[in-house]
Amino acid sequence: MNIAIVNGPNLNLLGTREPKIYGQQTFDDYLQQLRKKFPAVNISYYQSNVEGELINYLHSCMGKTDGIVLNAGAYTHTSIAIADAISAIIIPVVEVHISNVLGREEFRKTSYIAAKCLGSISGLGLDGYGLAIQYFMTKKK
Ligand code: DQA
Repeated sequence: MNIAIVNGPNLNLLGTREPKIYGQQTFDDYLQQLRKKFPAVNISYYQSNVEGELINYLHSCMGKTDGIVLNAGAYTHTSIAIADAISAIIIPVVEVHISNVLGREEFRKTSYIAAKCLGSISGLGLDGYGLAIQYFMTKKK
């Protein structure tokens, strides 16, 4: 099974970025753990701070990827273009947020992508990515 994890802006700074909200672990470190935990899954990883690059990457997943775990970062709350890309690629996408976006500022309560995704996981820290992969594995059986 091929799963792509896609992280949006500022998520390259995990580990040092607002650790009280996002934790102290780097994503590279967490990714190593994930790959050990799911040896049967081919997990690819892409991060960009640029909206168009994220869209290009989502397009490139077509025909290659069984499921996408997407944390679009702040683009979640602004990007109709990423929402349209999710609709266009016909690959199931699970939306993940490390923090509980519904418990923070008002503007984080709007997700332009949620309605285009299979579902959303928010507020469970980095575990949300692993739970999304677990979901895709269970669903495939
Ligand atoms: C985030 C929540 C967003 O509101 C924020 O802009 C991020 C990270 C999260 O994972 O909790 O960059 O997506």
